[in-house]
Amino acid sequence: MWLNVTSMKMIILGAGNIGLVTALCFAEKGHEVYCVDNNQSKVNNLNLGVSSIYEPGLEPLLKKHLSEKRIHFTTELSEFIEQSDVVVVAVGTPNSPSGEIDLQHVNAAVSQIASLSTKPKTVILRSTVPPGTNQSLSLKFPKINFISSPEFLREGSAVHDGLHPERLIVGSNKTEHLKLFQEMYQNFEITPSQIIQMDPASAELSKYAANIFLATRISLINEFSRICEKTGANIQQIKKAIGMDSRIGSEFLNAGIGYGGSCFPKDIDALISFAASLSEKLNIVQATKETNKSQVCIFAEKIKVRFKDSASKNLALWGASFKPETDDLREAPSLKLISFLCSAGFNLNIYDPKATTALSELFKNNSQIKISTTAQLAVTKADALVIVTEWSEFGSFDMTQLKSSLKNSIVFDGRNQLDPQKMKQLGFEYYSVGRPS
Ligand SMILES: NC(=O)c1ccc[n+]([C@@H]2O[C@H](COP(=O)([O-])OP(=O)(O)OC[C@H]3O[C@@H](n4cnc5c(N)ncnc54)[C@H](O)[C@@H]3O)[C@@H](O)[C@H]2O)c1
Repeated sequence: MWLNVTSMKMIILGAGNIGLVTALCFAEKGHEVYCVDNNQSKVNNLNLGVSSIYEPGLEPLLKKHLSEKRIHFTTELSEFIEQSDVVVVAVGTPNSPSGEIDLQHVNAAVSQIASLSTKPKTVILRSTVPPGTNQSLSLKFPKINFISSPEFLREGSAVHDGLHPERLIVGSNKTEHLKLFQEMYQNFEITPSQIIQMDPASAELSKYAANIFLATRISLINEFSRICEKTGANIQQIKKAIGMDSRIGSEFLNAGIGYGGSCFPKDIDALISFAASLSEKLNIVQATKETNKSQVCIFAEKIKVRFKDSASKNLALWGASFKPETDDLREAPSLKLISFLCSAGFNLNIYDPKATTALSELFKNNSQIKISTTAQLAVTKADALVIVTEWSEFGSFDMTQLKSSLKNSIVFDGRNQLDPQKMKQLGFEYYSVGRPS
């Protein structure tokens, strides 16, 4: 039962990366939150204080709000829906095999809310959905007031971003919905100008625009890195030169083996497919996807070519999660790289600071792959090291110790994490992306 001691009674549907972080951030800011997920074992673990994902700062917040009874996890929506002030839908929106968005979880969640509510309900759609979803749900469920408010937080700093949102979108034409957001976020350090109201379709499309813009920057800098490799130019210098231009900025300009994760690849496919349904062909978006796909292959090819006529076939891989500070392996470039290297006959010893359990499960039947529990164990007696994800512990690893641990002093740095000059001085054969070897 609701304790009735807090500013708002909120229900979050979905306890995945977004739902869980959102729920904890609202609890931290004084609301009482029921987080509802249909995965019983996830709910059981969360009630014991065990999170299904790694995010910096998440577990202490979970323990704190469980003990203060500000957050509750359940599979049952029916008990709490009537008295809730607002329901946030944060369930998954995967793509179908052909790339178009599959709204079955959103539809199921909303149908459930509608069938359990006797009075009008306000539902915030936080899941990423294509333009028009709010409108079609509003027609189907007239007793529900929908607000489209996409989530922009970044995995790896999700708790920080959830507590300090840069902007909030209120996708609704009703002024009372702006007031609702002002109330929901009154304890967050956010100014009125950071809460932007717009029509629902613009709100829905803005999420795709943000992700695809960022993904395109990555593919573009990666294309420049290819030119660098063929001309002797250095992508770090290019980044510096353009990043200081205030029209461009320096974020999302790191050359490497490409982007991954649960959002960019999925949202790109979803938008391409959605646009096709409107007879629109998105050439730039398509090119972003193609460049990203080939970027990891170009890097893998470098490794294959280097060891072509050699019997040496044992590689250490540092990092596997799609970015540092998360254990998320969804669409991680590492997975493509691992598959490529295994097909080329390499044996791999992989270490990731947070994804050990997931990796062990994923590759338990692959005799070419070993999972190590430390960076040191992975490199011991390996023929070369491949850096796949730029966790900070790799940047501060003692390179002299690395040299004495490897059989050959060869490093392939897929994230340009190490300093080429220093590596050269230490006697490494060092390859990176878009920088002279
Ligand atoms: N992961 C990110 O960084 C990120 C960032 C911004 C937006 N998004 C969007 O947020 C949404 C959620 O993403 P995610 O990464 O948290 O997904 P997720 O797969 O990690 O979590 C979804 C959760 O919803 C639960 N669920 C599914 N149907 C349900 C139902 N009917 N009732 C209750 N629970 C249900 C699942 O069991 C799961 O725990 C997606 O639309 C995604 O595109 C994700």
